[in-house]
Amino acid sequence: MNRAVPSHIAIIMDGNGRWAKQRSLPRKSGHKAGINPTRDVIKFCMKRKIKTLTLFIFSTENWSRPMDEINWIMELFLSTLKSEIDELHKQGVRLRFIGDMSSLNEQIKMSISNAEKLTVNNNNMNLVLAISYGGRQDILSASKKIIKKSKSDDTFFPEISEDIFESELMTTLLPNVDLLIRTGGEKRVSNFLLWQIAYAEIYFTDILWPSFTEKDLDEALIFYSNRERRFGKISKQLEERDC
Ligand code: IPE
Ligand code: IPE
Ligand code: MG
Repeated sequence: MNRAVPSHIAIIMDGNGRWAKQRSLPRKSGHKAGINPTRDVIKFCMKRKIKTLTLFIFSTENWSRPMDEINWIMELFLSTLKSEIDELHKQGVRLRFIGDMSSLNEQIKMSISNAEKLTVNNNNMNLVLAISYGGRQDILSASKKIIKKSKSDDTFFPEISEDIFESELMTTLLPNVDLLIRTGGEKRVSNFLLWQIAYAEIYFTDILWPSFTEKDLDEALIFYSNRERRFGKISKQLEERDC
């Protein structure tokens, strides 16, 4: 039994489109309805002293969606970031963004950079927003950075280790994910934080993201607290450690 609260929760916030379809609304309404639970889940995690929360806003693969849906998601992201940033700052939240920032428009890039600068000294909670993010691309870009460094310093390459590799990932300096939550019923990870979830407990729920509530977060936390995290060991070794 693992009574601890996870230090790092990551959420694949899925099901906006289906939520809208069930109500005969356009998909755009589903994305809009996803904003309130997003604001709430940040609050709930702060209340429960979760140190790091990473939210999947938009994946590398989501660029293949119809252009008007992409534009709508980007507009919603920008307007929500603008309207929420002061409150997040007041609450002591540090914002970080991971993903391929070069594919975002100038206005979004600017808002992201401002939000990171504004909140850089906050330490109540790390809020990591993954936008235009792909786990494979994260691993590839870390590899490229390491190869580049090794070319300018030939002592570097032989020393490559998990720690060095991790320090080049977009999540550098953040702890690995303890609990991954996916809403919307699909049981897959869809190219989210691949390296970082190596030992995460994974909680799937059929709840569609716009309907996600504090009770659903608590169910995920209970699930987490009932897992025995063995990290390859056997139970007896963990009991000995707990004594
Ligand atoms: C998740 O909801 C939000 C994004 C991927 C941007 P979806 O838009 O994937 O909703 P479903 O899966 O179609 O219901
Ligand atoms: C994953 O959801 C991406 C986000 C929630 C941002 P998708 O809806 O894009 O995933 P797939 O396509 O069903 O795997
Ligand atoms: Mg989906």
